[in-house]
Amino acid sequence: MSRFVAMVALAILAMAACQPAPAPEKPVNQSDNNPMQLKLPVGIEAPPPIPGDNPMTPAKVELGRLLFFDPRVSVDGNVSCATCHNPVMGFTDGRATSMGVKAQTGGRSAPTVINLAYATNGVFWDGRAKSLEEQALGPIANPIEMGSTHQGTMARLNGIPGYKEQFKHVFGTDDIKIEDAAKAIAAFERTIISGNSSWDRFQKGDASALSDSARLGWELFQKKAECIGCHAGFNLTDNGYHNIGVGLDKPEPDLGRYVVTKAEEDRGRFKTPTLREIIYTGPYMHDGSEKTLEDVVEFYNKGGNKNPQLDEKIKPLNLTKEEKANLVAFLKSLNGEGWQAKMPTSFPPDVPSK
Ligand code: HEC
Ligand code: HEC
Repeated sequence: MSRFVAMVALAILAMAACQPAPAPEKPVNQSDNNPMQLKLPVGIEAPPPIPGDNPMTPAKVELGRLLFFDPRVSVDGNVSCATCHNPVMGFTDGRATSMGVKAQTGGRSAPTVINLAYATNGVFWDGRAKSLEEQALGPIANPIEMGSTHQGTMARLNGIPGYKEQFKHVFGTDDIKIEDAAKAIAAFERTIISGNSSWDRFQKGDASALSDSARLGWELFQKKAECIGCHAGFNLTDNGYHNIGVGLDKPEPDLGRYVVTKAEEDRGRFKTPTLREIIYTGPYMHDGSEKTLEDVVEFYNKGGNKNPQLDEKIKPLNLTKEEKANLVAFLKSLNGEGWQAKMPTSFPPDVPSK
């Protein structure tokens, strides 16, 4: 919490400094759909898919970065995307469930934004948004999250000359539209990529990159514990939805994917999250019900929470104390680089009141 206060304070200070908006970069050809040259860290196998109608350019990414961190996007000027997706905490907020404008809390935990560039099968815990572009439109108008209306936010941004200039440069019009803001934010999010973890280097042949414990944990992850059945591939997710029973023991459980599809088999299914940077993103699960990685491993060891739609891959694992510790050591080897230090140092200033 104190970190969050410090961040908001920093943002306000930065605005108060009233620095001029950065000079526009060279004009961007919007018909050019070549993705910007992203530097991909070790272990990240391919550049992320970029939607045809939202080519990635340096100026657009920069604008998205500003919008992501700027609290003026919310109704009371206090909440930015980064309030709940704070880079210091692995782009999450360290809370079980998130707190937005006027200290209201929602029912779900803020997932990390890291490596969502590779989420090709929907975002949100229940997958209700098809793309990052669609997702970004949500929180601004969510009464609990940022409490603004799209019109309200657009009116505010349209009153900030530095933003008008940048939107004109990136989108060719200085009439700021919410869809363009969402495109810029999504383009920025696609640059938040984590790789080059100890595990990646181990996979590339550096046998000393993992401790013995983490290496044994990796074995367990693939075999005895079968975590890889869902946390598969270089991003440690199958981009699928599974019922592992989290929260289903509550009186009024969150039914997850079912709420979106109304398909019986989707009851209690949630999106498989990436496990990259997992040490930073606790508490864990969609409801923040598991405090530590040790707790998560205990949860899987007992076979999740029993319910009629429990995924068949979830069953008691009979791990020894040592095996549990090894699994945790493996999870702790998944932090890498490529996503840190993304906070802007200044924002386009408000017009000073006369
Ligand atoms: C008040 C806290 C809060 C704020 C502010 C907020 N978010 Fe979130 N965000 C959440 C929560 C909670 C979820 C999960 C909601 C769900 O799945 O139903 C989420 C989900 C997401 C996801 C999907 C993650 C995934 O793994 O599928 C993305 C992307 C995201 N937010 C980006 C943003 C952006 C961009 C903004 C600013 C425009 C923003 N968020 C503002 C709390 C917040
Ligand atoms: C049947 C698919 C499946 C298997 C097998 C599986 N997981 Fe998961 N995992 C999920 C899903 C789905 C979630 C999110 C569940 C929720 O929040 O309701 C999750 C969440 C997690 C989280 C929390 C992530 C976060 O950001 O909150 C961790 C850590 C984790 N799993 C580790 C493991 C480990 C370790 C194993 C093996 C013992 C494992 N998983 C096996 C599907 C699976």
